Amino acid sequence: MGKLGVKLAVGCAVAACVVASVMVGRRVRRKRAWRRVMRVLEELEEGCATPVERLRQVVDAMSVEMHAGLVSEGGSKLKMLLTFVHNLPSGSEKGTYYALDLGGTNFRILRVQLGGQRSAIIGHYVDSRPIPQHLMTGTSEELFDFIALSLKDFVEMEENISEHSPSERRELGFTFSFPVKQTSSSSGILIKWTKGFVIEDMVGRDVSECLQQAISRKGLDMRVNALINDTVGTLAVGHYHDEDTVAAVILGTGTNACYLERADAIIKCQGLLTTSGDMVVNMEWGNFWSAHLPRTSYDMDLDADSPNPYDQGFEKMISGMYLGDIVRRVILRMSEELDVFGPESSKLHVPFILRTPLMATMHEDDTPDLREVAKILRDTLEFPEIPLNVRKLVVRVCDVVTCRAARLAAAGIVGILKKIGRDGSGGIASGKNEGASRSKMRRTVVAVEGGLFTNYTLFREYLNEAMTQILGEEIAPSVIIKVMEDGSGIGAALLAASHSTSSVDTIQIP
Ligand code: BGC
Repeated sequence: MGKLGVKLAVGCAVAACVVASVMVGRRVRRKRAWRRVMRVLEELEEGCATPVERLRQVVDAMSVEMHAGLVSEGGSKLKMLLTFVHNLPSGSEKGTYYALDLGGTNFRILRVQLGGQRSAIIGHYVDSRPIPQHLMTGTSEELFDFIALSLKDFVEMEENISEHSPSERRELGFTFSFPVKQTSSSSGILIKWTKGFVIEDMVGRDVSECLQQAISRKGLDMRVNALINDTVGTLAVGHYHDEDTVAAVILGTGTNACYLERADAIIKCQGLLTTSGDMVVNMEWGNFWSAHLPRTSYDMDLDADSPNPYDQGFEKMISGMYLGDIVRRVILRMSEELDVFGPESSKLHVPFILRTPLMATMHEDDTPDLREVAKILRDTLEFPEIPLNVRKLVVRVCDVVTCRAARLAAAGIVGILKKIGRDGSGGIASGKNEGASRSKMRRTVVAVEGGLFTNYTLFREYLNEAMTQILGEEIAPSVIIKVMEDGSGIGAALLAASHSTSSVDTIQIP
């Protein structure tokens, strides 16, 4: 070998060493970065942990806060609002009633035919439309004009198909799923907006009046004779079908619960008299807060960036509006540590781009190579081809976030049961033989509505599992969670019907 040959050989060897060391260096860096990402995951898991002991603390805190909210106005973050609904539909309601359901992503109009016998909802027709984004942050007049116009279209369309007599005035139940201080069963003042709605001029105004005025502006002959929260509609339908229904929970874009309370337990309204002795209380549990809630830095950032910081803390950990965004924030944090997600996607910085239904699809992807996950990451976040181990990581993040949400919702439900003595501690017959008395625990039904619960199997499974863990194997079978499809809307029609037939106002507010 000549000199040149030697030089060449040495050069090649040096180049090979450089390439090898670059590759090794890259592998080492990648390994370190991967370890950092795993640390992010571990921290998330620790931060979101909901062992049953912690859930029991949440149960206790919920029932204590419920009590505090019933004792005095502002006594708790739970508003515990009076609904003026004290008699749930009896089953004798008859006729055709209309309902408007506003509160989530969609706005629905319903016509419900009641046959006058329990469980005789002869039929209902629903028209659902998305609420245009600009109306959620515009003026009240724009929003209500849109609603009234949609209602007019609906009525005109059905005039061709139904035998409604034009001389008959239509009766309307309005489900308005935001915190409202009711002034009667058909009127109330908006306290604040939630779920991304911000229409300043509406706060402090009577919601029914705004709707009634818009209806008149459109020349419709319709009377708003029930104003309800979606939880109350769901409870009404639940109770209509099954008298053991004592509470209702919404797990959808937002979250909330209501339940049947004894009027004399509503201490802040001393002397409140109702014929039934009860009153449905709208808890507005989305605003529940307790130091026992497992909160992470992602929750804090989400809250700080929201239009309503320090508000609706429970809702921001649980409901469909927020879960996808928590996952997005975790992925963003991971992508800062590691280039596994490819060049950092600018889409990942867009709030709410990863909606909860997409998150649920990723979480429930059962293809062996997690094809759906890859597709959503590509189509929504514009990530390039993502390796399988990273797809698995994303699924794990979805799992942690959803598991926490579902378990906290379960703790909230048991908190209500505890408050009304239906968690097995107060609602059982006393006696020496605990096993025998436990079997006498009263059947208790909780009506549930909302896409998060109905469309997201793993959320539902986690919730049911946590209910059993908290209540125990013996008590849990007595508590039945029942899905009420369209409960909030049908419930408004049912309550409109029962208000139109009950002639005397049987509530006395001191
Ligand atoms: C509202 C509640 C409503 C719940 C579910 C919350 O954001 O404050 O009034 O019941 O969402 O729709």
